[in-house]
Amino acid sequence: MSASPDSPPQPRRFSPPGALSGTIRVPGDKSISHRSLMLGALAVGETRVTGLLEGEDVLATAAAMRQMGATITREDDGTWSIHGVGVGGLLQPAAPLDMGNSGTSTRLLMGLVASHAITATFVGDASLSKRPMRRVIDPLSQIGAEFEASEGGTLPLTLRGISPAVPITYRLPVASAQVKSAVLLAGLNTAGTTTVIEPVPTRDHSERMLKGFGADLSVEEKDGERIITLKGEAELKPQTITVPGDPSSAAFFVVAALLVPGSDVLIENVGLNPTRAGLFGVLRQMGGSIEEVNAREVGGEPVADLRVRHSMLRGIAVDPAVAPSMIDEFPVLFVAAALAEGTTTTTGLDELRVKESDRLTAMAEALTLAGAKFEEHEDGLTIHGTGGDPLPGTGEGAAVVSHLDHRIAMSMAVAGLASRNGVEIDDVRPIATSFPNFIALMESLAG
Ligand code: S3P
Repeated sequence: MSASPDSPPQPRRFSPPGALSGTIRVPGDKSISHRSLMLGALAVGETRVTGLLEGEDVLATAAAMRQMGATITREDDGTWSIHGVGVGGLLQPAAPLDMGNSGTSTRLLMGLVASHAITATFVGDASLSKRPMRRVIDPLSQIGAEFEASEGGTLPLTLRGISPAVPITYRLPVASAQVKSAVLLAGLNTAGTTTVIEPVPTRDHSERMLKGFGADLSVEEKDGERIITLKGEAELKPQTITVPGDPSSAAFFVVAALLVPGSDVLIENVGLNPTRAGLFGVLRQMGGSIEEVNAREVGGEPVADLRVRHSMLRGIAVDPAVAPSMIDEFPVLFVAAALAEGTTTTTGLDELRVKESDRLTAMAEALTLAGAKFEEHEDGLTIHGTGGDPLPGTGEGAAVVSHLDHRIAMSMAVAGLASRNGVEIDDVRPIATSFPNFIALMESLAG
């Protein structure tokens, strides 16, 4: 699977498999993989990473870091070796940085480049070129970087970084780990103290990993807000990192096992950082049987194996406060809700409209084709479940549109497993951005 514009779309039908059973391991966490390449590229000496996600988004980050001077190689046993250039040592890239489909690569790298005296042009695919970049342009302009963006503050854009940059205190206007991380990464090569205030906590992998690499970073909780302070002109020490499995990838198999009658699946090595694991709590509240076994720590992150058994789910009102801890999991939660007993309501999900696709509209269109009953609102979906009956599925000649969005494609693949007639997806190439072996793993469980 490759989303390269040269290859033709790959349609595929996902049909009911019979019970899912067996043990799988999902690939490494995407957020942690990006950050390990970026921080490794800024440390002096060799960082070694095992379990790195080798999906297109992460490979885009690796290519960009190489273009800016880091030496990054993959050894035969799958270990990645990164020789960094040191904080402040990024080189002027000779060609535009191709970010593909990856918002995380783009926004975090914009932060890194902003406090170096280099100029970089960021380009991406049709989906990424629609996504809002003003949320990072605004704070990075305050540190002194300059931008020439496409109309609407989108890619392609050229960033002229600055050194010395001005340290800022920035209160996040949107709950976004990418914006938080962009400001913190810019702060690494900025003399003085950079502060980010987070009114709503978001995934904290950047904070954990910056500390792990030896940066002087502290986090304080005050009046329900998180205040993150970073001392600049940091010297990062190379690390040995083990990337835990991605809970956002495990999510598809957790929901599939809950929905397909008779299923009993063990998913090993799932990262359960509390800023990421919201979906599993919500599914348990709905009656899902998800058991954590062998809880441990991997790479400074909580990890467990998840045993998931088919369960009758009940609709609930999902508390909008949990949204940041499961922001990428709503498409697959909608699928779970479509088979639950009763109604599930979701609110406070405006951010879903600016992901790889407008995920509220994309899922509304897709669920309509698959025969689910729901209403779309400005900030969420209200879903009326079937009470356990399979969805009808897509009719002949009808295919769900994935909109270059891996999570729409995978969520609707899960819907296909829980349908009567199967669900046809117009193009499964986008799945390779985050989960290259998704279909192979699904087939192994259906075995
Ligand atoms: C990510 C943060 C989230 C998430 C994305 C990965 C990260 O985006 O949706 O898939 O690695 O920081 P936002 O920060 O835009 O919410």
